[in-house]
Amino acid sequence: MGRNMTNNHVPTVFGVLVVLAALSVSANAAEAIPNSGSPAEFDAKLLVCNVCHGESGISKNATIPVLSGQQESYLVKQLHDFQSGARNVEVMSWMATILSPTELGSAAAYFAKKSWPARPAAAAAAAASPPAMVAVCEVCHQQNFVGGLPAPRLAGQSYDYLVDAMRRFAEGERNNSGDMTKIMAAISPAERDAMARYISGL
Ligand code: HEC
Ligand code: HEC
Repeated sequence: MGRNMTNNHVPTVFGVLVVLAALSVSANAAEAIPNSGSPAEFDAKLLVCNVCHGESGISKNATIPVLSGQQESYLVKQLHDFQSGARNVEVMSWMATILSPTELGSAAAYFAKKSWPARPAAAAAAAASPPAMVAVCEVCHQQNFVGGLPAPRLAGQSYDYLVDAMRRFAEGERNNSGDMTKIMAAISPAERDAMARYISGL
């Protein structure tokens, strides 16, 4: 699994390095001209996000979450958690630190204002009957998992990302939410799998 992740990310990491190199050039240029380049520099940083999260945050990689249309407060919390290490994912801890506090808020707002990508027809066909646990999850994730203030949108996030996120909560690898750790530890791997399949097809 470690090896798979590394292989998946090799091309994207090269892309990031190229964009970051371009960014440091423009950052130096901005320093030379006081008070200029700030919005341009922010746009350049968003391009770095898009290398992995896809154009406008519509991810094409099953291990990288969609950001487009995600809850703003959730995005803000995750970026803070990556910065502080409360959510410990090496690549994102590094990425989150390129954002100033103001840029962090602007990035969250930028992605939250976009719409969630339309569901592909194949996913509709795959949608199974709802597992019994659905009603419990919807208390926080809202009806049809569209997300809201209490919890993020999950509907239409990829199966691979969802099932791995649930496993990490269950095993304590991701521990930035006490509620989610408890809930995931209380259900079996087979139940997590069924939930991830169902939710990814919504
Ligand atoms: C090199 C690839 C890469 C780049 C570049 C990148 N990310 Fe990520 N991002 C990831 C991966 C992988 C995850 C999933 C982490 C995990 O598995 O828990 C993630 C997760 C996230 C999450 C959490 C979403 C969720 O549903 O929990 C947010 C928010 C996020 N990234 C924002 C950003 C922003 C903003 C930028 C640009 C400043 C950025 N990312 C750049 C790879 C990247
Ligand atoms: C008590 C409220 C609550 C309930 C019930 C709940 N969740 Fe969550 N869930 C949350 C919160 C809050 C988060 C965001 C945690 C964080 O800050 O990282 C979350 C995050 C998640 C994530 C990670 C999303 C991402 O983008 O990384 C998944 C997957 C998830 N929940 C699945 C489920 C499933 C499946 C159920 C039902 C079996 C469930 N949750 C029940 C509150 C809840």
